[in-house]
Amino acid sequence: MQANLLCLFAILSLVFHTAGNTNELAAEAIAKAMASVENARARAEADPSKPVFHITAPANWINDPNGAVFHGGYYHIFYQHNPYGDKWGHMHWGHVRSRDLVKWERLPIALWPSLEAGEEHVFSGCATTNALGQPLVFYTSIKKGKSATDFAEQWAAIGDPGLITWQKHPANPVLAETLHGSTKVYDWRDPFVFHHQGRTLMVLGGNLNRAKGGQAVVTLYEATNQELTKWKYQGVLFTHPDTKVNNIECPNFFPLNGKFVLVVSPHGKVEYFVGDFDARNHSFKWDKRGLIDGSSTYYAPNCMLDPQGRRIMWGWLRGFKEGLGWNGCLSLPRILKIDAEGNLFQSPAPELSNLRTNEMPLGEIPLESGTNSVTGDTAHTIEFSAELECVNPKGFVLRVIRHASPKDAINFTAEELEITPGTNRLRAFVDRSVVEVFANDRKCVSRILPGFGAPELLVITRDGNASLRNMVLWQMGSIW
Ligand code: FRU
Repeated sequence: MQANLLCLFAILSLVFHTAGNTNELAAEAIAKAMASVENARARAEADPSKPVFHITAPANWINDPNGAVFHGGYYHIFYQHNPYGDKWGHMHWGHVRSRDLVKWERLPIALWPSLEAGEEHVFSGCATTNALGQPLVFYTSIKKGKSATDFAEQWAAIGDPGLITWQKHPANPVLAETLHGSTKVYDWRDPFVFHHQGRTLMVLGGNLNRAKGGQAVVTLYEATNQELTKWKYQGVLFTHPDTKVNNIECPNFFPLNGKFVLVVSPHGKVEYFVGDFDARNHSFKWDKRGLIDGSSTYYAPNCMLDPQGRRIMWGWLRGFKEGLGWNGCLSLPRILKIDAEGNLFQSPAPELSNLRTNEMPLGEIPLESGTNSVTGDTAHTIEFSAELECVNPKGFVLRVIRHASPKDAINFTAEELEITPGTNRLRAFVDRSVVEVFANDRKCVSRILPGFGAPELLVITRDGNASLRNMVLWQMGSIW
């Protein structure tokens, strides 16, 4: 009896000691990572090209938005983050939240690689809550010494009720490659959970048959317990129709206006496919496709459903100059909709108008053939709104330059924006070095504006015969 108790005590103290150690190691890892960001912060924030109304990391590297979720009265966004430098590496999850999509609050780093468990990177993923009310994130865990192409596991972490502190789930890995039986899924990553007809399902990206060039796929899984720690493989949901696409990252799959939408990041421009999901047969039949953004500056988006039933999506904006102590930002929140024909519409969240100050009505100008100056030099953070009236959109270009160095120019073409003859609504957001243009609340294009100095908007038309009406310019405030 005595011996048994001693044995039990020894086991219990070992368990608690180990748990204590794990928590301490986590706290240490986060404190170290945050100290590194803090060190880099003053320099990053002093950089005049760092955006102020797009979500950024305080300093150093940011890539994909992760775990977008509305929880406890807040919009939460996590993001891929390297706290140790302004290049990709040491993947952690940074964290911000907002009550209103206008002002955002920075929170402690949420997820860290558990080096002691052999974990090297905490890759992209999603957030949800299980039937026991536990907030969960799912993410791809990359092991030290293994190539992410050949080996990956899907891990979970449990959050406190405010989603501030996280503990790695004792059941990890919650999905392992053995689920696929004899099928080998390469680059298996980026879990996205959705709920449908009382079932909890997950999609992941990757590719099959890599030796033969790779077949880009989205695979489907279903939770078989309430904790969401056990999953069943339900097969390939989607194979990319273009054979030159050989991998898919960051799939998002969700119902929208009576249809299902699949968003994929195929190492190029982000695409969407609209169709019908048959949950019984685990099949997705799509009949419409298009681009989420006309430029590959935008990548790896993640979306959430908010309490108003809106599907809101953020992407990673990439391609900034290196060596500035910060790199990358997230796009503005975009609200997605589908019309009766299955066409996707995107518009900036209306809450963004709360950031407007110094309204400047610019009226109307006729457009000559050639280059037309529209705004003159502007503030560094602006929103521009106008109606473009045109007979023939061919040759139309919205150009953004640096007023003092017009060589630093970026163009948004009629084709990218799908400008049509007649009236077109245009909105352009310039946030120091980032520009996002929305046309007709349907098409979006994001680009990085090189150089420094005051931006200016120009319009080029081939044959004139066009005008800009109801032009308004606002200065935009900071989200922090
Ligand atoms: C997309 C991506 C994801 C991966 C993450 C790593 O940009 O490559 O597939 O999880 O970034 O940072």
